[in-house]
Amino acid sequence: MNSLFDKQNITVLAIESSCDETACAIVRNGREVLSSVIATQIEIHRRFGGVVPEIASRNHTLAIENVVAEAMTKAGVTRDDIDAVAVTYGAGLLGALLVGVNFAKGLAYAWGKPLFGISHIKGHIAANYIDSALEPPYLCLLASGGHTAVVKVEDYERITPLATSRDDAAGEAFDKVARVLGLPYPGGPEIEKLAREGKPVFDMPKVKHGEELYFSYSGIKTFVINLVHKLEQKGEPLPKADIAASFQQAAVDQLVDMVSLVSKRTGIKKLAVAGGVSANALLRARFDDMKKQGCEVYYPKLCYCTDNAAMIGSAAYFLIKSGADESPYSLDAKATVGIQ
Ligand code: KG4
Ligand code: ZN
Repeated sequence: MNSLFDKQNITVLAIESSCDETACAIVRNGREVLSSVIATQIEIHRRFGGVVPEIASRNHTLAIENVVAEAMTKAGVTRDDIDAVAVTYGAGLLGALLVGVNFAKGLAYAWGKPLFGISHIKGHIAANYIDSALEPPYLCLLASGGHTAVVKVEDYERITPLATSRDDAAGEAFDKVARVLGLPYPGGPEIEKLAREGKPVFDMPKVKHGEELYFSYSGIKTFVINLVHKLEQKGEPLPKADIAASFQQAAVDQLVDMVSLVSKRTGIKKLAVAGGVSANALLRARFDDMKKQGCEVYYPKLCYCTDNAAMIGSAAYFLIKSGADESPYSLDAKATVGIQ
């Protein structure tokens, strides 16, 4: 049991550094964001076509102190107002995570505040609680660069995966297809932009699953790669916008169809979406359509879809309220973390 469990108002300073964003946020009672600061490294990694782990770690080291100071200033708080320090401990790039974890440990020790290590996945899910009244139980579609799953959020801390990906994550497939089309990193928003100028004229392969439910993105990714190679060999111009639109439609169809199927099988009609791909406008529009089937639909605000620290501060509040123990100073960064 942690020392804050019974406290009425809890203000968390949260840090996130799992990939290429150095972020700090001050979050009150899990749903109110007092400040959220993100220093992105996208421009630095763009020239390499993806995130270079060592460069990410070095840039987190350069940014973290200023990002934390800015978050405190913007929220108008001092260390006396902070009840706990929370940090993403995994999943992510190990060297990148270590920067946040060690900085958080230092702050917690120096300020005499409890430390809470938070799973990045639970953070993405918790982004749905910010400025919203969403409460478990519900189904959540998790679609990021590292994970694709439909999970049942039984309560704030109990998460059961009902369908996961057998190969690539949805965001990873967006990034790889974007690369094949010569679009910059990160690919998701670029595909979305280009798809607006095209039509989904190419028939993409569909996943055929029986009783066992799973996602698979290798089929549509390979289809696009082969199509591009075939057209290039023939010397034909690439209909990039049509390919982007076709891929996006197939990728989004797979996500939405699975949620719809799991919703029917479980009878759960309260639905949420989490992770970077939840920023996609087509995905959001298709989810909105599910309201016609009597579903209640929640999304994070756009600024909390991709990596940020506000979602970590929100997840920390609900972890504290579950009565979990504080993390020890031996808290370690972990490259992989299970969905539960
Ligand atoms: O959640 P996130 O920021 O980081 C991980 O935890 O992985 O997700 C990043 C992923 C990237 O693969 C990116 O291409 C994808 O989310 N993404 C999108 C969009 N915005 C970001 N995919 C499709 N459409 C978008 N608008
Ligand atoms: Zn993420």
